[in-house]
Amino acid sequence: MSDRKQNNKKNFASLTIFDKTYNFPIYNSIEGEPVIDISKLHSEAGVFTYDPGFTSTASCESKITFIDGNRGILRYRGYDIEELAQKSDFIEVVNLLIYGDLPNKNQLKKYKRLISRHTLLHEQIINFFQGFRRDAHPMAMMVGVMGALSSFYQDSLDINDAHQRQEATRRIVAKSSTIGAMAYKYSIGQSFVSPKNDLTFSENFLHMCFSNTAEDYKVSPVLAKAMDTIFILHADHEQNASTSTVRLAGSSGANPFACIAAGVSSLWGPAHGGANQAALEMLEEIGSSKNISKYLKKAKNKKDNFKLMGFGHRVYKNYDPRAKILKNICQKVLNHVGIKNDPILKLAVNLEKIALKDKYFIEKKLYPNVDFYSGIILRAMGFPPEMFTVIFAIARTAGWTAHWTEMIEDPIQKIGRPRQLYSGNKALKYGIKRSKKNTR
Ligand code: CMC
Repeated sequence: MSDRKQNNKKNFASLTIFDKTYNFPIYNSIEGEPVIDISKLHSEAGVFTYDPGFTSTASCESKITFIDGNRGILRYRGYDIEELAQKSDFIEVVNLLIYGDLPNKNQLKKYKRLISRHTLLHEQIINFFQGFRRDAHPMAMMVGVMGALSSFYQDSLDINDAHQRQEATRRIVAKSSTIGAMAYKYSIGQSFVSPKNDLTFSENFLHMCFSNTAEDYKVSPVLAKAMDTIFILHADHEQNASTSTVRLAGSSGANPFACIAAGVSSLWGPAHGGANQAALEMLEEIGSSKNISKYLKKAKNKKDNFKLMGFGHRVYKNYDPRAKILKNICQKVLNHVGIKNDPILKLAVNLEKIALKDKYFIEKKLYPNVDFYSGIILRAMGFPPEMFTVIFAIARTAGWTAHWTEMIEDPIQKIGRPRQLYSGNKALKYGIKRSKKNTR
């Protein structure tokens, strides 16, 4: 238990269940909402809490990332995302997330060297790629190859060895960009491009994606900075679905590569990381500003499954600070690559303007999230929509590995094992005819 918790152990919440009152300690967060520790609820009162989607549940204690959803604040280890996006670079942010503070010059130089030494993949992984269909989604390859790393790097699977844990985090971050680039190359039928260790992480990723055997890709500083900012903005976001998946998978003692593969799977869904691809596809489907009202009507209609992709967030009830930064970068990148008056950007800006004045979006506090503008930037840089979530995954390896490490090193960590509100059959006798209601 942290000092902070002990300092506050005099605060209690009382809960009366079937005429008996129980007291549960309240812990103040350093910032943000306090939490009620109900870990003894079942052993003392014989009941569970019911919270689908974990809308009111803190699943762990963490020192990594802070979000104030009402004020639109995001901080990694105490540093504002705006400042990091401006002054830092992705590998420094990875180091910050994993080790807890900004490294000094020498530490950073050493860490960058260590990361770049791990960008190569085992030669046999090429054979692994050959087993995928060319038209497979690159996230399918990402999930498969990330999990397969556990078969290649067996000297960093021991989760009880601190050195092996660190080695695994470096391998995961470094190799994720190589795997992502290989997935892209494979899907377009080009040969893989080897990493170059004299390039920065972001330059190297662009090089591996866009160089080919006939021509080297000249990495533009404007695009490299945009790429790096996108990686920084997606690096962590506290206990989101994929990070919670990594923690839950890791809580059983599974190896780090397998846990990160589980995170990649969770990220893929359109409600999470898959929204960047879905948002761009939605904008293309809307096509023109004259169709905005028709699509807003669909988004508001409860009988229609359509949602405004890139809008809304479980935590942000204000403008997502990451979306604000991306909106600013957008025009810069488009100008740089010579796209003038991009109709999709114009449509996105109009859609945002109209939605933010709409009663439904105002009342439900739905604002653009990180996925609303990122696709427009990535498309201008030359990436197809299928690669957007892969890029999100590469960046998020930073947060996943930081949370996985924090979870393993937390002395109160135990296997994650939620309970349920059972609503199935009572005991049945085998062979006795089931009622019509139960027949599928
Ligand atoms: N369009 C239309 N209505 C929406 C939207 C949207 N994009 N988002 C939420 N709502 C409605 C929702 O139907 C619900 O209405 P009601 O109260 O009448 O049932 C209300 O707003 C509250 O939403 P919720 O679904 O309870 O919120 P949630 O916290 O469960 O879901 C979300 C958050 C991000 C999954 C959801 O807003 C969404 O599906 N957005 C579109 C997908 C998207 O952009 N996802 C990326 C999230 S940010 C990046 C990341 O974390 O991966």
